[in-house]
Amino acid sequence: MSKTFYVTTPIYYPSDVLHIGHVYSTTLAWTLRNYKKLLGYKTKLVTGADEHGQKIALVAQHLNLKPQLYVDKMAQKFQELWQAYKIDYDYFSRTSDLKHKKMVTKIFDQLLSSKNIYLDYYSGLYSISDEEFFTKAQAKIIDGNYVHPVSNHPLINIKEASFFLKIKEHEKWLNQYFQDHPKMIVPHKVLNELNNNFLKPGLNDLSITRSTFDWGISVPGHHPHVIYVWLDALTNYLSALGYQTKNNHDYIQFWKNGDEIVHVIGKEISRFHAIYWPIMLHALNLRQPNTILAHGWLVTTEGKMSKSKGNVIDPLKLLKKFHPEAIKYYLMSQINTGQDGVLSEELLLNVYNADLVNNVGNLLSRTAKLAEHYFPKGLKTLETFDQDISHVIKSSWENYQMHFNQFEIADALKVAINLAKQLNIFIEKTSPWNLTTKLNELNNILHVLCNGIYAVAIMLSVVLPLKMNEMLKSLGLKTFDIKQINKCDKFNNVKVKKYASLFERIKK
Ligand code: MSP
Repeated sequence: MSKTFYVTTPIYYPSDVLHIGHVYSTTLAWTLRNYKKLLGYKTKLVTGADEHGQKIALVAQHLNLKPQLYVDKMAQKFQELWQAYKIDYDYFSRTSDLKHKKMVTKIFDQLLSSKNIYLDYYSGLYSISDEEFFTKAQAKIIDGNYVHPVSNHPLINIKEASFFLKIKEHEKWLNQYFQDHPKMIVPHKVLNELNNNFLKPGLNDLSITRSTFDWGISVPGHHPHVIYVWLDALTNYLSALGYQTKNNHDYIQFWKNGDEIVHVIGKEISRFHAIYWPIMLHALNLRQPNTILAHGWLVTTEGKMSKSKGNVIDPLKLLKKFHPEAIKYYLMSQINTGQDGVLSEELLLNVYNADLVNNVGNLLSRTAKLAEHYFPKGLKTLETFDQDISHVIKSSWENYQMHFNQFEIADALKVAINLAKQLNIFIEKTSPWNLTTKLNELNNILHVLCNGIYAVAIMLSVVLPLKMNEMLKSLGLKTFDIKQINKCDKFNNVKVKKYASLFERIKK
């Protein structure tokens, strides 16, 4: 039976349209899913919208819309964006879905009866924009006012009755869990930060309900309490799989008995995913995810994207200039997972031209032109295969997997690009255009090139599935199969055809 792989993106707030940073997160999860699929895993990718809370209610009110109507429109827009970016997923999770709401209510009841939840008063600082609570010690002070330590959004003082989830009680368990599973949080520096900022100073119980607004899941029998966004949001990872419903086979297959579970998130929400989420699951007696993958921020050449600076990159506008796969390729190949990365149109163009047009595109066009011209009926049977290149193909595929398995996607893609470079050098070295009277030699060389291109295409197919399928067609084959990577005779009698232009050159 094939292994399973469940990967999620954060569910995004529909308080605004999505920007290129959100596209980065989703592309990362999508690429991991594609990679695992290529290896033969049974996969599930979930993305969605985090629709409740004060912030959303305020935006809807401002637009004179009922919150439900407002989030319906925004969820539609989110899905249109993924479609435009050719990002396919298995489930779009919405916290205003009845299925999700029912599950959250059940979970709340369960935690209440296991005495993991109690009623008290919350008093402290709160950021509406980030839906996040702080103590005075955790907050930052700017011009005498308390602000969010990372986003700098203003913090307000609130005091209200609230249900709390017991966190302190599970602190020892969590510390031990991290010791036993040192690879759960990737990159490791995120765990160090959480240790210094939250775990070492000691955790506080978490306020999980609010009573000053009503756009949320009500706590049955406790009007006016509604469940505060993070308990509502994090549990979407379970409701998306049908947890607590009759139709729960996905939950059983991908979560309970699943092989790998990965949550892709931006680093600023690692506190919720790495501290509160594991504790929630532990309190519910459920299994833990294998990996919380916290990536860095996408910034522009002028620094952080912000509405006030007017430098937020609109992903739909970017699509007017670039193919979605070119953008996704940039995001995956130029940003090291876990680190911040820069995006600008100029950088995108340079990478596109260098890696895809000049290197990969050129390699295919030179090879296919010769093959079609001299072997229109198909390549002849292979006689001898260049051992050096055979070795390079084998070790490239191994290195690629080694990097991918450690979430080093940019490094993995570099392996593919380097292989394409070596094949271009091989063309220069062997000058096949001078061998037109030595067709046996030319045939052997074309076999080497086609096999090399096949390996490059498989490796890039996790980010460029459409383009790499075109490449495969040009090579005269129908499907990618990783078992074929190291078999050199797969091009015997195969008709290779010229492809008009795989990657159109974009002028500056
Ligand atoms: N709704 C919560 C997440 C709940 S998950 C159970 C939330 N939503 S959000 O709309 O604010 O999206 C935050 C996520 O968007 C980040 O964690 C990150 O994945 C992505 N990004 C937002 N801005 C980004 C950048 N500038 N760069 C990269 N990713 C960015 O938090």
